Amino acid sequence: MESSYQKLLKNNKEWVSKQLDTDPAYFENLAKGQTPEYLWIGCSDSRVPANEITGTRPGEMFVHRNIANMVVHSDMNMLSVLSYAVEVLKVKHIIVCGHYGCGGVVAAMGKKQYGLIDNWLRHIKDVYRLYHKELDAIEDETMRANRFVEVNVKEQVLDLAKTSIIQNAWKNQQPLHVHGWVYDLHEGLIKDLDVTCRGLQDIHTVYQFDF
Ligand code: CO
Repeated sequence: MESSYQKLLKNNKEWVSKQLDTDPAYFENLAKGQTPEYLWIGCSDSRVPANEITGTRPGEMFVHRNIANMVVHSDMNMLSVLSYAVEVLKVKHIIVCGHYGCGGVVAAMGKKQYGLIDNWLRHIKDVYRLYHKELDAIEDETMRANRFVEVNVKEQVLDLAKTSIIQNAWKNQQPLHVHGWVYDLHEGLIKDLDVTCRGLQDIHTVYQFDF
């Protein structure tokens, strides 16, 4: 028990000396501040580590993770991360990255009760209802779950574009693209879903604010 936990602190010490070996000023420079170009909104799943799968280093990516990479517009945590990333850090790309085999998405497809988490999964069920015709027509359960993961990412991209935070950035001519990706656990590869939002025209008029 204790050893698996102590291992983390030991790993940390080894990592520090490795970093210092290659660059003695590594931490000194990082401590000066961050100017990441990307905001990553991904799943909490331990198999989808944002930095590792994108080859980004500390300082390069601002990260928010929750179950099933959701953009819930009443979630103060997500909104605060988004606001800081867009308004202060001025990231250029926001990436919503889902992954096939997502436990949250699969759970949202079923009828089982899980307790408190059902309230979170409800947001994912709402996406199913939007796409029920397409999804119900897919007989194979894994294929249906995979497509559900994809359309869920697409909806979260749109949910970002619906926020005043992003629309204000666009209004101010701030370069900002919102992308939707899916990570394949079996291959390690990321697929760009090609659902990028680049401006107001990419969302339904009912969500577009006046400026
Ligand atoms: Co997941």
